[in-house]
Amino acid sequence: MNNSDKKVAVVTGASQGIGAALVEAYRKLGYAVVATSRTIAASDEPDFVTVQGDIADPATAERVAAAAIERFGRIDTLINNAGLFVAKPFTAYTQEDYAAVTGVNLTGFFRITQLAVEQMLRQGGGHVVQITTSLVDHALSAVPSVLASLTKGGLQSATKALAIEYAPRGIRSNAVALGVIRTPMHSEEHFDTFAALHPVGRMGEISDIVDAVLFLENAPFVTGEVLHVDGGQSAGH
Ligand SMILES: NC(=O)c1ccc[n+]([C@@H]2O[C@H](COP(=O)([O-])OP(=O)(O)OC[C@H]3O[C@@H](n4cnc5c(N)ncnc54)[C@H](OP(=O)(O)O)[C@@H]3O)[C@@H](O)[C@H]2O)c1
Repeated sequence: MNNSDKKVAVVTGASQGIGAALVEAYRKLGYAVVATSRTIAASDEPDFVTVQGDIADPATAERVAAAAIERFGRIDTLINNAGLFVAKPFTAYTQEDYAAVTGVNLTGFFRITQLAVEQMLRQGGGHVVQITTSLVDHALSAVPSVLASLTKGGLQSATKALAIEYAPRGIRSNAVALGVIRTPMHSEEHFDTFAALHPVGRMGEISDIVDAVLFLENAPFVTGEVLHVDGGQSAGH
């Protein structure tokens, strides 16, 4: 055990896109970070541990939590960022789509959040953040995606339930609901179409999401919140 006096953040889906940027942001804030995804590169840096694994497998969650606790002695923030998005007409979804999306988005949230909350209870506090989508509150005819709403909608409800269950014990739970963000998830040929979905007329940037997560991190009176960072989409058109 190498207990750290630093705060410790765990980030899932951390090899690229929003997750990788969150890792950098928390490291800049002075946190020790445990980052996980299937392909994340090894680290030999002192305050940065990586764990490879499929987050849909609860054994990955066990290894990630054990790495945080053995290496740094605590977990202050968990960011459930790993996510899959499959847009299809409802009847075109296959059983494989269903298993893949529910596996990462829901099963991938469950065990790691249990383990992080158990550790936060031992410490007397912490913060859990879910990365969701604005489509939960504002479905778009141009983007049929029931599996996103089913899974991320579940996460948004769980965000509130966790906030209420653990508010008296110092653990906050929040979500950030995204518009379409310019990440490797999307190919460039669709950027103009995506931009037009947002009342502000542009796609979101990864920095827009990092700013929102850091706001929540530093907002001790905010819990159970679903913060929409979606260029106005959920407000209407
Ligand atoms: N970009 C958007 O427009 C947008 C909009 C709404 C919501 N979101 C949400 O924002 C989050 C991040 O999105 P992003 O755009 O940054 O995604 P991304 O660029 O596609 O990155 C996804 C990350 O998740 C990891 N991942 C995928 N499957 C995994 C699995 N089975 N086990 C463990 N890790 C896995 C990937 O790493 P490996 O391949 O190494 O496993 C990668 O690091 C997701 O939850 C997504 O649903 C994004």
